[in-house]
Amino acid sequence: MENLHELLVNRRSIRRYTTQEVNADDVRLILEAALMAPTSKSSRPWQFIVVDDKEMLERLSQCKPAGAAPIAKAAFAVVVAVDPTLTDPWVEDGSIAAAYMQLQAADLGIGSCWIQVRGRFMADGITPAEEHIQELLQMPDTLPVLCVMTFGYKDEERRPCDTSKLLWEKVHIGTWKDVE
Ligand SMILES: Cc1cc2nc3c(=O)[nH]c(=O)nc-3n(C[C@H](O)[C@H](O)[C@H](O)COP(=O)(O)O)c2cc1C
Repeated sequence: MENLHELLVNRRSIRRYTTQEVNADDVRLILEAALMAPTSKSSRPWQFIVVDDKEMLERLSQCKPAGAAPIAKAAFAVVVAVDPTLTDPWVEDGSIAAAYMQLQAADLGIGSCWIQVRGRFMADGITPAEEHIQELLQMPDTLPVLCVMTFGYKDEERRPCDTSKLLWEKVHIGTWKDVE
């Protein structure tokens, strides 16, 4: 286990996975991370659908024409859905849970990638990507899908973050002002 800073430096989105399966204990730890994530007023408005069936993963990857290919080759994916009737910051609540899963996965040496679903459309440009997912997974059509998180052992090397290139100009100390 790395320390948290090293883990943050080394975590990169991984979109290519080996065929090695992730053992059930590690899948469980990743979901535990999601379930421990903070939520506004502790509303815990999320639902997580774990998918490891290869054919289903392939079909889910067709939810949008670009940027969803990693789903097809993932060892497993977690569909993150959030009920907006339970809390107004539902996007934030779902996002934090998704990020927690990525960090837990990274700590286990498992690669991951966020695949955006909210606000995205299928190849026809009209059908919301989430409709495809809701239908395939027999979900309520009233439950928005935020993203699909893909997980698997890395089949690509990514360079760690270059901390010398961090955008410190985005940080303002005390008041809004440009960094000299
Ligand atoms: C809100 C959000 C949406 C994203 N959507 C996608 C996506 O649909 N497909 C994809 O391959 N990567 C997606 N990513 C991953 C980003 O492209 C990636 O995090 C970014 O390029 C920075 O790279 P890094 O994660 O390796 O540091 C998304 C990330 C976030 C946070």
